[in-house]
Amino acid sequence: MEPISSQNSPYVVNEEPGTKAYCACGRSEGQPYCDGSHAGTGMAPTVVKLEEAKTVAWCGCRKSGTAPYCDGTHARG
Ligand code: FES
Repeated sequence: MEPISSQNSPYVVNEEPGTKAYCACGRSEGQPYCDGSHAGTGMAPTVVKLEEAKTVAWCGCRKSGTAPYCDGTHARG
């Protein structure tokens, strides 16, 4: 299966340090994080460890070339 777009803009979140499981499949009800909805799709979350608190723009369209982060691809239609 292919990833699906959950929204055509990034999820901008002020993140605390720690391990985050980004929803790579686009199907989670708790965007932008994995909630297990990828079951059966053959996809899995992208796990990243943030060493410090920072603002993260998580890709919402699932077309970013720098996933799990937004690279502006959503705006290039
Ligand atoms: S729900 Fe999308 S990767 Fe887990």
